[in-house]
Order: sequence, then structure tokens, then C-alpha cells
Amino acid sequence: MFKLLKTDEKTKARRGELTTAHGVIQTPIFMPVGTQGTVKTLHPDDLVDLGSQIILGNTYHLNLRPGLEVIRAAQGLHKFSSWDEPILTDSGGFQVWSLAKLRKISEKGVEFANHLDGSKMMMTPENSMEIQATLGSDIAMLFDECPPYPCDEKYAEESLALTTRWAKRCKIWHDENIDTVVPWQVDPSQIDDDKKTPVKRQLAFGIVQGSTFAHLRERSAKELIEIGFDGYAVGGISVGEPEHEMIRAIDNAVPHLPEDKPRYAMGLGTPPQMLEMIARGVDMFDCVMPTRVARHGLAFTHDGPIHIKNKEFELDQRPLTETTHPSVRRFTRSYIRHLWRAKEMLALRLLSYHNLHFYLQLMEQAREAIEAGTFSEFKDAFIGRYTANSK
Ligand code: GUN
Repeated sequence: MFKLLKTDEKTKARRGELTTAHGVIQTPIFMPVGTQGTVKTLHPDDLVDLGSQIILGNTYHLNLRPGLEVIRAAQGLHKFSSWDEPILTDSGGFQVWSLAKLRKISEKGVEFANHLDGSKMMMTPENSMEIQATLGSDIAMLFDECPPYPCDEKYAEESLALTTRWAKRCKIWHDENIDTVVPWQVDPSQIDDDKKTPVKRQLAFGIVQGSTFAHLRERSAKELIEIGFDGYAVGGISVGEPEHEMIRAIDNAVPHLPEDKPRYAMGLGTPPQMLEMIARGVDMFDCVMPTRVARHGLAFTHDGPIHIKNKEFELDQRPLTETTHPSVRRFTRSYIRHLWRAKEMLALRLLSYHNLHFYLQLMEQAREAIEAGTFSEFKDAFIGRYTANSK
């Protein structure tokens, strides 16, 4: 399922290949976020054009709207959203914490008032896995509790113990039900051998918690490995902590994870942060940042982000970057600034397209550098230029 192709000699960076039911993913990889079953402003063909190998969907949002009846009628999220490539779904744990109101946590799960109409709902490890199975994602995440930052040791320890108990329940539900619920899953005896893809089963990933405490991160990793998942994420980061704590959380977790399974840092990050994490052995990332900041007029460049609304770009005849996608390179900064000021939708689309291209191209360059044995030099040169010139 996960093939480690090469490990860098100077850093812990890895080049790998993750096989899912809807295709093979080359790692390290960035996953654009499609919370509502769409990556905002982009057509699925755009994502293919950008070389996006996998996108992310959200259990919390899609369960609320459109709801499972609609998803079942469409036979899963792939068909519903006309995206035939891999999808990873987050479990809803994190979104319940960040969006819902009046949360009440118990052994059973989390009761909350949803952020759309305030009605009371319950999410449990079992129904999170069931929703993800119904969505038919290629990778499902376990239902966890993401502790806030800062958080004291007692809270972090109890929270992590609960996440481990929920992880067991997620795994039991997945093992017992997955073959009957996932809409694209076919009975292996019904397909002929040459057409069979190597994986026709939804994968399940664990999420390491433990906040800022090294021994808790280690404990969490070991308990999840004991339960046994197809891959392991590091959660509870990018929750308001300073950057050195974010990196420390990765340093505290990754060395305890198995070499032969993919590793995923949830909700990260800036381009330099992702390169730092790759150097520490992380294989997968997701973040709303490239598309969210695009909708605020920000474009990533090799010299740091720029605000397209700024007066300095009024007459600038250059593209956003020389290496941006051809569909964006044909437009000048001056023109995109004009679109932005005129509140034209094309501005949001071009900036989203560009920023995702920047992120996906960075991952492609990282993969090539790992293969060539030059990742360390590539990382230092990229971060050096990016930070030296960031405004
Ligand atoms: N997204 C970002 N961080 C987290 C986390 O800790 N848990 C989950 N489920 N999703 C996340």
C-alpha cells in the first residue's frame, strides 16, 4: 500500500508512493482542501490540470449539508462531485472543536449544536467512520479530540487516552463494516484479475495527539500503532502555537512512527514549514491557506507572499511568478490587480489557481530533489530566498 522509494541521506526526507482505490499518490504531497466537496473557485478539471493527486473533504460539513441521503443517492462523494481521483476525509473531530457550539464531550462522543442552524447533533467514533464510509473516501481519519493550545499536562493526558479509546472503536467499526458500506467497493471475486487495482478498500489513518508533551506524543504513537492503522497523522498542531512548538510536536511524534507507513501533518502550513516537515520525515500535508489567502488577495512567490491589491503592482507587467501555471502566466500583475479592485470573480479564481500551483510545484520540486539527493540544498535555498525577501 505504501512503498518507500528513497530516504534522503542528509535529512529524514522520504520519497514514497501511496496506493489508494482511486489511484497512486506520489509523496511528499500536498492535498488541496475541498471542505464542501469542492476546492473553492476551481473546476475538477482545473485540479487535474494543476497535477493535484488527491483532495480533502470534510465529514462534519458534508454530513450537515447535503447530508447522507443525498450522498447515498449519488453513490458517494466521488460521483456526487465528479472527482474520480483519491479523496481523504477528515473525521469531523477537529471541526466540531473549531466550528460547533455548546460542545459536550463524553465517553460516547461529542454532542454539539451545529454551526448552520444550531440544532443538536452527536458525533461518535462509529458514526464518523460510517459517514466517511458512505462518502466513500479513499482515506478515512479516526475520530479524535484535538486539545487546544496551550493545554496543561493533565488535560492532554486524559484527552489522549480518550482519543486512543475512540481509535479502537473506529478501527473495530472499520474492520467490521467497511466491505459493505463503501459505495465504490466491489466484491473482489467479481472483477477480473487484470483490471484489479492493488487496493480496493478504504484506508484508515490514526491521529497522534499529546499536545506539547514529548512523552504523551510517544505514548499516543505507540498506542495507535498497537491498534494498527494504514497511516499515521500528527494532529493538534497549527492550533495557535508558536512555530517552534509546531516543529517540536513533529520531532516528538515522527521518530515513533513506522518507516513503512505514510505520515501526515494535519492542517499545515506555509511553504517553509512544509519543507521543514518533509526534512523530518513527513509525507503528506493539507491546508486551507493557499486557497483561503487567495480570496484575501494574497499570492505566493519565491520571495514570499505579495498582496495583489498593492499600488506597487498597478503597472507591473510581470506574471505573478515566472514559473506559475500557463493559464495564469498569461495575465500580468497589473491586470490581476485591476480584477481584484473591480471585485471580479476571475481574480479569486486566478489567485487560487496560482497558489495551489505554487504549493503543488513545491512538492514536485521536493520529490525531484529527494530523488536527486539534493533535498537539503533545495530546502535551504528555497527558505533562504523566501524568508530574506518576505515583506
Ligand atoms: N486538522 C488539523 N488538525 C487536526 C486534528 O488534530 N485532528 C483532526 N481530526 N483534524 C485536524
